[in-house]
Amino acid sequence: MSRPIAILGGTGPAGMGLALRWARAGETIIIGSRSPERAQEAASKIKQRVGEANVSGAANVAACSAADLLALTVPFEGQAGLIKELKPFFKPGSILIDATVPLAAAIGGRASRTLGVWQGSAAQQTAELVPKGVKVVAAFQNCSADSMNGDDPVECDVIVCSDDPEATQLVCELAASIPGLRAIDGGKLENARIVEQLTALLIGLNIRHKGHGGIRITGLPRSAYRSVG
Ligand SMILES: NC(=O)c1ccc[n+]([C@@H]2O[C@H](COP(=O)([O-])OP(=O)(O)OC[C@H]3O[C@@H](n4cnc5c(N)ncnc54)[C@H](OP(=O)(O)O)[C@@H]3O)[C@@H](O)[C@H]2O)c1
Repeated sequence: MSRPIAILGGTGPAGMGLALRWARAGETIIIGSRSPERAQEAASKIKQRVGEANVSGAANVAACSAADLLALTVPFEGQAGLIKELKPFFKPGSILIDATVPLAAAIGGRASRTLGVWQGSAAQQTAELVPKGVKVVAAFQNCSADSMNGDDPVECDVIVCSDDPEATQLVCELAASIPGLRAIDGGKLENARIVEQLTALLIGLNIRHKGHGGIRITGLPRSAYRSVG
């Protein structure tokens, strides 16, 4: 059995997209939720779409306790509270992939605008809140959940930012296991502040042009891109 990936707050479109794509890639997935019933329902939906999927659902606490590879897919308004609740349950040395974007929608504003975050980005806020030794990797903020929940290859590059090169490499591999996605090492976690801002721009473009746009970075040497293709 592969190393399980727990997706905390995984019942929404962003978490379900990752669960679907990673289940298809053969990963073992635990979908986390505030409600175990909702998590199990979400897991059933993935199983209906992916034959032989290794997917289960559990309360966020149980999901966090069961894996040392985690993804966080909650709205910004729930991010800090959930991490504080889960703090005692992180395994030492865990890798936490953070896809959170600090959209102004969190306080009733527009989803095409972001909020200022004291630490610099939602991912840096996460890094401040997790137990020492948990490695935070910012990724997937620019991937449209509409595309991720579909069946076609996902036309997007994933800029992976963290202060731990090994964690960056592992998350690049996970991103590259999803057809269409190309992973790029985006450097330090502080660069997440730029990547998160791009999401607000993409949301504005998607509203204006009625699409589900992603990003592509051009002109780098082939060695900079990791993909299945
Ligand atoms: N949607 C996209 O296209 C997309 C793309 C890239 C990144 N993102 C980012 O990924 C994150 C999740 O996006 P989403 O669209 O999936 O969001 P969402 O549907 O609003 O929320 C995802 C899940 O988070 C849980 N949740 C909601 N409020 C919470 C709170 N206050 N405390 C704890 N858990 C809470 C809910 O699960 P339970 O009720 O089951 O606990 C919900 O199903 C956001 O930060 C978003 O900016 C989204």
